Amino acid sequence: MKAIYLLFILWTGLVGVACLRPEIVGDFLVEVKALRQTAYLNCTVINIDSTTQVVWEQRSSALVISQDKKILTQNLKIDGKRKYEVEIRRQGARTTFMLMINRLQEEDSGNYQCYIQMQATAAVEWPKKMQKVVVLVPPSMDNTVTAGTMEAHEGDNITMICDGSGIPMPNITWTKEDGSKLPTGHSLFRGRRLVLAPVTRDMAGTYVCTADNNVAPPAYTKSELAVFSPPITREVMDSVGQAQNRQFSAILECVISGYPAPSLSWSRLTNNGVEEVRDNEKYTISKQQSKVLKTSEFWYTLRVKNVQANDFTVYYCVAKNRIGTSMSNITLFETVECQGAACPSMTKGVGVKSSPSLFVICALVLLQTTMFTIYLT
Ligand SMILES: *[C@@H]1O[C@H](CO)[C@@H](O)[C@H](O)[C@H]1NC(C)=O
Ligand SMILES: *[C@@H]1O[C@H](CO)[C@@H](O)[C@H](O)[C@H]1NC(C)=O
Ligand SMILES: *[C@@H]1O[C@H](CO)[C@@H](O)[C@H](O)[C@H]1NC(C)=O
Ligand SMILES: *[C@@H]1O[C@H](CO)[C@@H](O)[C@H](O)[C@H]1NC(C)=O
Repeated sequence: MKAIYLLFILWTGLVGVACLRPEIVGDFLVEVKALRQTAYLNCTVINIDSTTQVVWEQRSSALVISQDKKILTQNLKIDGKRKYEVEIRRQGARTTFMLMINRLQEEDSGNYQCYIQMQATAAVEWPKKMQKVVVLVPPSMDNTVTAGTMEAHEGDNITMICDGSGIPMPNITWTKEDGSKLPTGHSLFRGRRLVLAPVTRDMAGTYVCTADNNVAPPAYTKSELAVFSPPITREVMDSVGQAQNRQFSAILECVISGYPAPSLSWSRLTNNGVEEVRDNEKYTISKQQSKVLKTSEFWYTLRVKNVQANDFTVYYCVAKNRIGTSMSNITLFETVECQGAACPSMTKGVGVKSSPSLFVICALVLLQTTMFTIYLT
């Protein structure tokens, strides 16, 4: 009986001591916030009294930020708001000292520590807890990155380098702006170094490097690769028909590529040999804009106006740059009817096409009238 009594005293004594000792309770989660947001760090304590203070400090700099509700460090106003504030909330035996870091900046990342300052106790024995703050920073491109225009010869080896920073470290990917495949065989390449070895002419185009860490917005940089190459010509249609002597035009089209951009000339086969065709009252030479073309492809047209009997021959489109020359031929031949989009008969065709819908409307109106009549009777 005595032993039990003694145990009871011992037990209450232990509980009493434990209850009196101030403690920090609860879990500390990593506070992850974006730039300019507010971080909320909670230090929940029990058993504090008037002889204890709760202190928040920045760990790396050992900067004491607050003691209870008092801010002890320089507390500048940023956009009308103080950098630090402490809010105290009591809930039963628990008291939470919430440190708010407003208008977060990159340098606010790091560890913060909360501890309970106890007057009669050595500092090493003060309860403490660490809390981590991560300030997310959107990606930015390094200036060591390959950017702008690069020129290469076929067979050269080229490495494009791209690097970015941000928190967390961004993923770096390469794509081509037109969505076409990279030399790796895929349309997307993950990594900082994109190797083109050896360079071929179809590698020409705009390469886009993206740095993304899921903190908007991603950063981009573009590099244009131009590959020196001789011209290549291709006719859109190798023969074009038109009726003669009726003020109709024929349009001959030729797509060329090459770097540097080739110059283009048109010529035609006559009884006296090949003669150059110039832009005049008979011919119009023009360069078309087209989205379907690849980079460094150009679309040229030759309009032969008021087609006559002596216009039926072979035409050549000749592309030249300092690396080489290329040529395609297009035959203009005679037809009985007008050919092409600009023919007068085409407009009549559209008129005929619209009549079925008119017919449907008439039928519907007729049907409705009939039903209305049935309903009445
Ligand atoms: C601190 O408490 C506030 C209010 O309860 C809460 O919104 C915030 O997420 C807490 N912070 C952390 C890091 O848990
Ligand atoms: C390009 O790289 C390949 C290996 O990828 C190598 O065999 C070749 O010699 C290199 N060419 C030049 C011009 O450096
Ligand atoms: C990088 O990409 C991987 C794979 O898609 C993804 O799991 C990871 O979250 C990305 N990292 C960042 C910082 O966005
Ligand atoms: C036109 O081109 C075709 C195919 O390239 C060729 O067979 C033909 O001989 C050329 N005609 C003339 C007149 O150059």
